[in-house]
Amino acid sequence: MSEEGVRPTNTDPQFWNERWNKNEIGFHQANNNQNLVKHLNKLVEDNKHIRILFPFCGKAVDMSWLASLGHEVVGVEYVQMACEKFFAENNIKHNVSEVQGFKLFTSEDGKIKIYNGSFFDFTTEHEKPFECVWDRGAYGALHYELRVKYSTHMKSLLAPKVRYLLDVFDYDTSLYPGPPHACKKDEITNLYGSEFKFELLESDQYQAFNQKLADVNQPHVKLYFLTRN
Ligand SMILES: C[S@@+](CC[C@H](N)C(=O)[O-])C[C@H]1O[C@@H](n2cnc3c(N)ncnc32)[C@H](O)[C@@H]1O
Repeated sequence: MSEEGVRPTNTDPQFWNERWNKNEIGFHQANNNQNLVKHLNKLVEDNKHIRILFPFCGKAVDMSWLASLGHEVVGVEYVQMACEKFFAENNIKHNVSEVQGFKLFTSEDGKIKIYNGSFFDFTTEHEKPFECVWDRGAYGALHYELRVKYSTHMKSLLAPKVRYLLDVFDYDTSLYPGPPHACKKDEITNLYGSEFKFELLESDQYQAFNQKLADVNQPHVKLYFLTRN
């Protein structure tokens, strides 16, 4: 995430619309996320094809890559421009419809759906529960109070046999307050609760958000794998 990505977190749709309008999207990665590429097998297991939830999806290119492998992707994104750019930039023909309070963008082959609206309004009325989740820049973008709301809502969308990859930043918050906000394992385990098991799959040093963090070789990008006990 470049300096552009380091700004106060705000859940106001206006805030995110402005960021997309000004192209202040330092969080966006031009290439597939390497943690997802390396650990996709954790989601796929023995299944040939899976269905994956992308909360706060932006225009993540991983969605088209997964669809090209035959998987189904369901994204949820506030900003209409982000949805439009995803399909335009990846040359994916699509249809747009209105579904229960959301604008729904669907690729012609049906493999990719993006619900344009708030994640907190997206429920199992829209889509059946998910067995797979890729969470980058969603939980991690929120401060603690919103993480309580987010994790509660996320759990309401999950199937019993869920496999959930959570990609977050971790660093010493006395040296930098965020955003993006640091995620400590204890906090994640508290919020997701005792019914989940947590495995740390990756911990890689990332470019520092300020000099104090650089001096102590932080932050780290951490990848957790959550499954139910
Ligand atoms: C930090 S970006 C991460 C985007 C994407 N996951 C990625 O890795 O490139 C957060 C995205 O979430 C969207 N967003 C913020 N609040 C949201 C909400 N309540 N519901 C759906 N999308 C939201 C923003 O518009 C933005 O595109």
